[in-house]
Amino acid sequence: MPPAQPGPSKPKATMANGTTPKAKPKTRVANFFSDDDEADHERAAAAGAAPANGVVRKKRRLNDKHGKGKARSEELERIAAELLVKRYELPFYQGRRDILSQILDNDTVVIIGETGCGKSTQLGQLLRRHALALEHYGPRGPSVAITQPRRLPTISLATRVAAEMGVAVGGEVGYAVRFEDATSRDTRVRFMTEGVLMRELANDGPQAKKDKGKANGEAKDDTAADDPLNLLLRYDVVIIDEAHERTLNTDFLLGSMKKIQRLRKARAGEGVKPLKIVIMSATLDPVKFTSFFSGAPALHVPGRMFDVATSHTAKPVDDFVEAAADAALMVHTRKPSPVGEMLVFMPGSDEIENLVSLLKRRGNDLAPDATQLQVLPLYASLPATAQSKIFAPVPGNTRRVVVATNIAETSLTIPGVGFVIDSGYKKEKEFIYRASGAIEHLRKMEISQASAWQRTGRAGREMPGECLRLYTEAAFRKMPEFDTPEIQRCNLANAVLQLIAMRQDPFAFEYIDPPSRDSIAAAFRTLAGLGAISSPTDITPLGRQMLHYPLDPEHARILVAAFELGCAAELIDILALVVSGPVFHDRGDTRETAAAARAKFIHRDGDHLTAMNVLRAYLSLRSGDNDDGDDDDRPKAGKGGIGAWCRDNHVNGKTLAAAARVRAQLRMLAERHGADASSSCAGDFSLVGRALLQGLFMNTAVIQADGSYRQTVGSLTVKIHPSSVLAGRKVPAIVYDELAITSAIYARNVSAFDQDLLVTVPWFQKAGAAQPVSRKTV
Ligand code: CDP
Repeated sequence: MPPAQPGPSKPKATMANGTTPKAKPKTRVANFFSDDDEADHERAAAAGAAPANGVVRKKRRLNDKHGKGKARSEELERIAAELLVKRYELPFYQGRRDILSQILDNDTVVIIGETGCGKSTQLGQLLRRHALALEHYGPRGPSVAITQPRRLPTISLATRVAAEMGVAVGGEVGYAVRFEDATSRDTRVRFMTEGVLMRELANDGPQAKKDKGKANGEAKDDTAADDPLNLLLRYDVVIIDEAHERTLNTDFLLGSMKKIQRLRKARAGEGVKPLKIVIMSATLDPVKFTSFFSGAPALHVPGRMFDVATSHTAKPVDDFVEAAADAALMVHTRKPSPVGEMLVFMPGSDEIENLVSLLKRRGNDLAPDATQLQVLPLYASLPATAQSKIFAPVPGNTRRVVVATNIAETSLTIPGVGFVIDSGYKKEKEFIYRASGAIEHLRKMEISQASAWQRTGRAGREMPGECLRLYTEAAFRKMPEFDTPEIQRCNLANAVLQLIAMRQDPFAFEYIDPPSRDSIAAAFRTLAGLGAISSPTDITPLGRQMLHYPLDPEHARILVAAFELGCAAELIDILALVVSGPVFHDRGDTRETAAAARAKFIHRDGDHLTAMNVLRAYLSLRSGDNDDGDDDDRPKAGKGGIGAWCRDNHVNGKTLAAAARVRAQLRMLAERHGADASSSCAGDFSLVGRALLQGLFMNTAVIQADGSYRQTVGSLTVKIHPSSVLAGRKVPAIVYDELAITSAIYARNVSAFDQDLLVTVPWFQKAGAAQPVSRKTV
């Protein structure tokens, strides 16, 4: 398993059983290639120069007719030609004939390739351009869906591929992520998050269509009307990318796609188009996929790989942030000339930010004439602009140190890395079952051996490298061989609701690795409690209504309650914030000033309405009509604009911008489904508490004599997190978004509510216990 063997890149196909796949009709594919390849060579040769080749000239003439579009189109062409030079070097591009020919000949193909070999960027456009376009799909070519586990890579891949194809995003190439859709009728290469495809399956099924009315401009799956499952006829090829991540959605999609492929095949006689499936994976555990899709060939696309010298610590380290800083500076002083950038793996954003400041501080002590350090953080919730810095050229006389989560393990390739420092930890969502109730939380945990080798391999992509592991060899040997797939450790409520909406039995579903029956049963209990299902096979009208909104079932239930109670304006704002991240910065060094700045937004009922106050101040500022000199009470952006306002108030501008987008989407969806998004509680905030309770009744607790809170469903004792505006206050009952486990069990994002409202929740009515915990006077 350790990385080795530099060498050329030719994909090699093997079947799951180790035999070689059936002979390929090479001539057919080769013919399709010839013209395009010539044009490609021409464009590559002309890259960067004034457009002089035939392809570009022809385009130019065409565009003259469109006047204004001409310059833009030429610019896109020029960039595409430049990028082509880079595409040529990618092992995936070099192996395209074999890859396409395998896809042409098989219903399902598994492609296994080193990160950075070109899987994600190349396949969609190659499918459009070559064999498949001519073979089966007529002049418009095949429609291709490519799923990604995460939002940012989805957007950045679509942007990159559009650039490589010389088109604008949203045309032939587009993307769809939760709360954002940059696709059109013309889109034929559609990058999307796995969650979006899951929702298409659940929302666009035949039953859903009946009550849906107007579709959103997409082709309809009319032939699917009698099928229990939406057949996704709008796609000819579905590519499940980054399948090795084995997210909850990856696993549900793989099972669903396998079934859809079978159903479509069975109806080929009726003219139903076949579905091709391509699974793309890093080199982690490909056997899982080839055996799940028995008969599918596995294509190996080798990347260039140099030797990596790997070392372990002699003793366990106490503080891996300190140890990583020491190791980074040790490497830097030992090999000061900037051969090879450095990549450090840390579990989460907190540790990353700590290490980044530590390294920056210690980097200041380097002699002025020594090679300097440029330290960059990298984690999923970082804004795209900050993430893109890792692709920018490294300044002169500088070594780059990228401090990243496991996002840099397989989903992003950082250029020029020669050294890797591995903390041996990651952060992962974990769902804990207890007799007293379930808790989902983010936990720091050790990585698997497979991850350790992936991290090591990042050092040997472009040069012989070195990997320093901040753990002992014995610790390495004790690590699990592979990661546990998310389906075996997460809350399944959302996925189970979607399966039921597709009329699939969650117990009988074809899983790669089945979840425990307990976790499916827990999902049923949650969904029944929310009123979303009436039995393990039946979704209720309320459940269907909840699926109109791309939210977790708990949050969707709150929204539907808000429509009924007439406080949608407030709850849409609150939910938009809940899904977008923390509103306030909570850094140790500025905690006091932050608290002072926060004071003006505080709502006495708690964090939800406080956050809403911030969002509303931000929106009124953004609408631009408040810097007019009037002496009104609306906030002023001041000279520095919104950025400065966010800084001065210690609020997170990125969260607020995201929340504003989500808010707009939720309002639009509400309107589409005939709900009144602007109804307001008009100052009666008990309505807001009541709506919150309808979804989060499982997350409620009442005060005890000692000032701690005891859960109403379940029996954990929880404390209010110090970051809450309710911290230090005693309120009779609280409702919270989540629990965080550190030295104690803390409730985060907390609001107070009137305990009498518990009777309004059907769960407690059914349980025959209007007040499940006796009321205490405080
Ligand atoms: O999917 P895989 O990891 O095999 O590779 P890829 O994502 O297709 O990346 C191929 C190349 O394109 C790499 O060298 C990346 O650095 C580059 N790339 C990029 O510059 N910008 C992106 N948004 C995605 C990829």
